[in-house]
Amino acid sequence: MRASQSVQRRASARHESFLKHAGYRYAWAAGALSAFALLAYVIIDIEPRHHGGSWLGYTLGAISAGLILWLTLLGLRKRAITGGGWSLKGWTSAHVYLGLSLSLIATLHAGFQVGWNIHTLAYVLMMIVILSGLFGVYVYAVIPRRMSDNRGETSSKEMLEAIAAIDRELRIAAQPLPDAFSARIKDAIEKTELVRGPLARLNAQPRSCPTRHAILALRAEIEADADPDDSFGPVVSLLERRRALLLRVRRYARYKALLELWLYVHVPCTFGLIAALIAHIVSVFYFW
Ligand code: HEM
Ligand code: HEM
Repeated sequence: MRASQSVQRRASARHESFLKHAGYRYAWAAGALSAFALLAYVIIDIEPRHHGGSWLGYTLGAISAGLILWLTLLGLRKRAITGGGWSLKGWTSAHVYLGLSLSLIATLHAGFQVGWNIHTLAYVLMMIVILSGLFGVYVYAVIPRRMSDNRGETSSKEMLEAIAAIDRELRIAAQPLPDAFSARIKDAIEKTELVRGPLARLNAQPRSCPTRHAILALRAEIEADADPDDSFGPVVSLLERRRALLLRVRRYARYKALLELWLYVHVPCTFGLIAALIAHIVSVFYFW
């Protein structure tokens, strides 16, 4: 099996199973924890109203802080290779469901109160981490399948080789064209970027693509000229094939970027959250 395909299948298999892992054990556990916290919040009377500084507030705050630290440990766990009951799949499953329950428990801790302060900064960062995590689960659910649909049985290397073969044909086919058009073909071959930056990769059909410009220019010439040169047709169809292959290569790069990009929000915001949380806890004890 090709290396990239095996990575893709692993991502897909891990995703399918981490949500359903052990008969949704962690979904149940997180549901029970949330229900317990909600029940305590509803049943227990705090005067004048619920807030982070009541005994229940402290308890829910401590649970939330403990959860955040444990959720952060997934970063270390990912890099340790072990199996058994606490497999990485189990950890990820627990991470997702307990991470979601944190949004409720921390909200109950704060008694639904927010303001322009360090406490709310921690809360907002936590919510960004949780939402980006949800987005991550979504991309793991849909992207691996789209990746294999897009590529079929062709590997990235084969796609690039096919583009190179078309380029060789294009150079020959473009020779009889007037200079202005053969220059367009040269640009399409030489200036079309195959490797792009992480953000650019998200757009699989960039408007600035020189191959697209070459197609548009040649098509406009064919339409404008009552008796177009015979060599235009084959060049356009080669360019179309090139564009179709480029689209597949770029979709692949886009999917790979989507599988990783959300972590660039999830992980730095986790560190921001921990810093804000430390400031929150220190400040509440300091001003106590
Ligand atoms: C050991 C953990 C924690 C302790 C001891 C703690 C303590 C407190 C205390 C004493 C308050 C009341 C402050 C006041 O009324 O001025 C409070 C409020 C609050 N806490 Fe925590 N907390 C903890 C964890 C967390 C976590 C994990 C979050 C969310 C990320 C959080 C977010 C908030 C928010 C948003 C408020 C409301 C602030 C406001 O009224 O404007 N806390 N916390
Ligand atoms: C405040 C709560 C959360 C914290 C602090 C947190 C933190 C982290 C950290 C540190 C990692 C390891 C990333 C790495 O090293 O590559 C991670 C991975 C992950 N997180 Fe979270 N997370 C939280 C909530 C969530 C939620 C609610 C979800 C989903 C709904 C989620 C989904 C994921 C997934 C799927 C991964 C695994 C990524 C992979 O293995 O490629 N996280 N998280």
